[in-house]
Amino acid sequence: MKKILVVGSSNVDFVLGVKEMPKIGETIRGISFANIPGGKGANQACACGKLGGDCTFLSCVGLDSMGDLVLNSLKSANVDVSAVQRLDNTPTGMAFIMVDQTGDNSIVVIPGANGKCNSRFYESHSDLVDQADIVLTQLETPLDDIYALLKQAKAAGKVTVLNPAPAPDNIPDDVLAAVDWITPNETELSRITGMPADTLEEISAAAAILLGKGVGNVLVTIGSRGVFLCSKTEQIHYPTIHTTAVDTTAAGDTFNAAFTVALSEGKTVADAIRFANTAASISVTRKGAQTSIPSREEVDIIVKDNGI
Ligand code: RIB
Repeated sequence: MKKILVVGSSNVDFVLGVKEMPKIGETIRGISFANIPGGKGANQACACGKLGGDCTFLSCVGLDSMGDLVLNSLKSANVDVSAVQRLDNTPTGMAFIMVDQTGDNSIVVIPGANGKCNSRFYESHSDLVDQADIVLTQLETPLDDIYALLKQAKAAGKVTVLNPAPAPDNIPDDVLAAVDWITPNETELSRITGMPADTLEEISAAAAILLGKGVGNVLVTIGSRGVFLCSKTEQIHYPTIHTTAVDTTAAGDTFNAAFTVALSEGKTVADAIRFANTAASISVTRKGAQTSIPSREEVDIIVKDNGI
């Protein structure tokens, strides 16, 4: 099995369950509250570990109880967190999440220690990039620094997977050229290309922009419609199994991690996408970020039962 390095953010999520999202200027009564380990990077690392990947995580957290919460969650998922930096003068990142009764969410992130994930920190751990086979990142840490790390990983011959979330208005061409797999949802694809990305035709046209800039493959997650794969040679729509969503938080993170784990095991791209679709569709049936990520056994059973 190949080695996975996940580089990215760690947060503690402050999750408010609400009947409906409040409107501007409105005060509403919430239904529930919970603190849950989260952060796009930590969620992806946690999912890699839970799904059986050989995963190391590179991130920054505070020397506070929130940092303990995230690290304990990752350790119990068998993730190597020995390179995670603990900062005594900066709090762990926080995300304030409202989840409505349809399972949709809105999120405000306070970066905290994630803002200290800079090139100096990454350079002090360049051995981890050297030792990895696949590098999985997102964009919830300082952009120029994570871009430099991606380019370093590609130059060193690693397989690079970029989940462009949260999506910036554009991603520099030299960074796109260093990405083997980019995994936006429709909204993120639209934002980074400036093109509409609702229908499969629109997604295909927007993906072609990224492919033209040197991205290896564009894997667009399209919610309950599944995934649309666009590469230079093929375009394939992979539907997903239907489940009833109670909370979509970290579904994208679970997808990215499951896809990366499957690649690390040498599965075909088609099998990797089906495995990842299944893992993500289980995660939306559960509340929270890292609390919603399924185990490897749970995914394997559904993959087998559905002949996926
Ligand atoms: O992708 C979900 C994550 O986004 C949450 O866990 C929250 O921390 C934000 O980073």
